Amino acid sequence: MIQPGEGDFRAFSAFCPHRGCMVKSIGDSAIRCPCHGSSFDLADGSVLGGPATTGLIPKPLQIRQGRIEIPADE
Ligand code: FES
Repeated sequence: MIQPGEGDFRAFSAFCPHRGCMVKSIGDSAIRCPCHGSSFDLADGSVLGGPATTGLIPKPLQIRQGRIEIPADE
């Protein structure tokens, strides 16, 4: 889960769409995959740099009683 702005929460699948590695690092403006170097936009998960050709899959989230709930990756 990321928070690109105050009160603006977003979640994406943790699995890279290239070959399924788990993305690891979140930098200033990108989420990075350690396996082959793909990078994804923090705000919407779109591809910034390949080899991935599609972005991270958005995950729904809900805020209930002040808690953020995100379904687990399958
Ligand atoms: S699995 Fe992520 S870049 Fe290849």
